[in-house]
Amino acid sequence: MDAPHPRRHLLAIGDLDPVQINRLFARAEGFITDGDTRPDLRGRLAGATLVNLFYENSTRTQSSFELAARRLGADVINMSPRTSSVAKGETLLDTAATLNAMGPDLLVIRHSASGAALLLSRKVTCSVINAGDGRHEHPTQALLDALTLRRAFGTIEGLRVAICGDIIHSRVARSNVVLLTLLGAEVRLIGPPTLAPKGAEDWGARVFHDMREGLKGANVVMMLRLQSERMEGAFIPSPREFFRFYGLDAEKLAWAAPGAKVMHPGPMNRGVEIESGVADLESRSLIETQVRTGVALRMAVLEDLARGDLDVNLKREGR
Ligand code: NCD
Repeated sequence: MDAPHPRRHLLAIGDLDPVQINRLFARAEGFITDGDTRPDLRGRLAGATLVNLFYENSTRTQSSFELAARRLGADVINMSPRTSSVAKGETLLDTAATLNAMGPDLLVIRHSASGAALLLSRKVTCSVINAGDGRHEHPTQALLDALTLRRAFGTIEGLRVAICGDIIHSRVARSNVVLLTLLGAEVRLIGPPTLAPKGAEDWGARVFHDMREGLKGANVVMMLRLQSERMEGAFIPSPREFFRFYGLDAEKLAWAAPGAKVMHPGPMNRGVEIESGVADLESRSLIETQVRTGVALRMAVLEDLARGDLDVNLKREGR
């Protein structure tokens, strides 16, 4: 086994190539257990420390990283900036230097500023994982989405995936477009002109403003939350209007391919971007599977980074 490398980070999907992605998926598959019995894996990262540094609210991502780390036997520290010295005005980099001096092995950061994870990664000697930086990227979410799809459909190659709603503010959309396109899916983006970023076609995805048109023949419908915390001013007339045109209900879902699957990264605004009946439809919804798969995928990422098996970010460093 390689010695841990001080500079392996997971900041963006572009840091990974298909071989690394498949290796991560294979490792994560090994961590997925369907029955009640779970093997004791606490020796795998025993003695390692993970710090969760979440500057934005999170329920599932933070607890998913925590659970993943604990299942592998790592110690976890949850830093909550509102109660720490960040609330007293300490800058991100001062916080990073302090945390770094404590010698953690893994630092998971979520921050409202795009580029915060990259900045941090340049200042610390441990591995940094981007758990969402502004509207930029959220690589582990895209990886868990892709693994969920691969398990549901057998392959991602050739799948038609429609990502719908608040694209412009979504790091989940951005990471997913890069990853799913790399893995051979056809990605479509659906949303009102105010929520579809200019130049989105340059991402390699077709943009639709008519939801029914965009859903035609889609195998997967990935809904996004309306991220009002990132909106300055009015992007939609009202949540009701938004639901009428872009909310996923049974009628709109019928435009997609027969048996199309429904995804959502959570948290959901039921009745705003997705109807409860569709979100909870067992035969179509992958939403709970995404959460379950997320823990296994994050276990794989943590283990690869901590053990130095994942050569991510070497391209970025030009080595
Ligand atoms: C996403 C995020 O934070 O970017 N949620 C998540 O990680 N599960 C999407 C969102 O907040 O809408």
